Amino acid sequence: MPFDVLWLSQANIDTLGITMLEIMDEVEQGFAAQGRGEVEMPAKIGIHTRKDCFNHSMPCYVSGNLDMAGVKVVSGYPPNPKKGLPYITGIWCLLDPETGLVRAVMDAAWITAWRTGAASGVYARYFGSPDTRSIAILGLGVQGRMNLRAMIEVFPNISEVRMYDPIAGQSARYKADMQPLLPGATFVDCADPKICVDNADVIITCSPIVEKPERFVKAEWLKRDSLAISVDYDSAFDAETMSGAACFTTDNEGQYLWTKGHGVYFQNGYPDKTGLHSDLGEICAGKKAGVRSGRRSAVLMGIALDDVMTGHLIYQKALERKVGTWVQL
Ligand SMILES: NC(=O)c1ccc[n+]([C@@H]2O[C@H](COP(=O)([O-])OP(=O)(O)OC[C@H]3O[C@@H](n4cnc5c(N)ncnc54)[C@H](O)[C@@H]3O)[C@@H](O)[C@H]2O)c1
Repeated sequence: MPFDVLWLSQANIDTLGITMLEIMDEVEQGFAAQGRGEVEMPAKIGIHTRKDCFNHSMPCYVSGNLDMAGVKVVSGYPPNPKKGLPYITGIWCLLDPETGLVRAVMDAAWITAWRTGAASGVYARYFGSPDTRSIAILGLGVQGRMNLRAMIEVFPNISEVRMYDPIAGQSARYKADMQPLLPGATFVDCADPKICVDNADVIITCSPIVEKPERFVKAEWLKRDSLAISVDYDSAFDAETMSGAACFTTDNEGQYLWTKGHGVYFQNGYPDKTGLHSDLGEICAGKKAGVRSGRRSAVLMGIALDDVMTGHLIYQKALERKVGTWVQL
């Protein structure tokens, strides 16, 4: 018996006008469900067809009142931009929790871009200093942009954005895109990572994830009261940034420890279970409190829960506004 599936392209999703704030609220609800023990989510599994490239499969079910399920198939290929192709590509499927039927298939690059910034925003809501003024962004691509968008939602007094990217022209393009969102702020183009993080209240690294990380940002360069967010696993921050922090947080404890346990990422001094202050599930469910002084550090790996919360929001909005194409399976 055939059934209908809603197909949503990136262009379809763009027309819905969904804001970073809306996605942050959804992702925060998802973390709260995780903290209540309502989330079934195995760690990402993947294949690696080329060096430093991945294809991940990411299923998740959120039970309780939310009752939503989905799975993402996502690829990250660092050589793609030189071929004129996107680095991150993929699809996300919304699954009917009652029947298992696929209800929607949508572009996953959009979801990945926005939900990743949103997770950083949720972390900053609980761990950021309200007086945050200076944000350092290292890696000025999609995530450099999305993470700044999220910080703008959390911190009303941002007066300076410090930028670092080794590729010529990236900082000028970044400033042109982002300055309109922060018209009163100064954008500072920094020649190296050390200058970039100097005196910053929030430091976010969004560089390519590699198997042999250089960890080119040193804890000793960061000011005492700062928020350090890694979007790029252990590629940029040295181990001391995380293990010597006043508190170290991740988006999902199980996935962080599983990934570390499999021997490629988070080796050589990144915190183990005893070094974890909390994961965002515990924080958003109110089981542990955030901290707002000292060096607060987080590795936010990006989890399937973020995708389900964001994908479901997109689906709801698309139904309301009759956007997308119905196809028969
Ligand atoms: N944690 C998550 O949930 C999540 C989600 C999506 C992407 N990511 C990761 O975030 C990172 C950025 O992704 P993106 O989509 O923004 O990619 P992107 O290709 O759009 O941007 C990457 C940027 O990093 C710059 N760069 C290259 N080498 C650098 C270095 N040594 N130092 C600083 N910058 C450098 C590039 O010039 C580029 O501007 C990747 O590692 C990606 O795998 C994480």
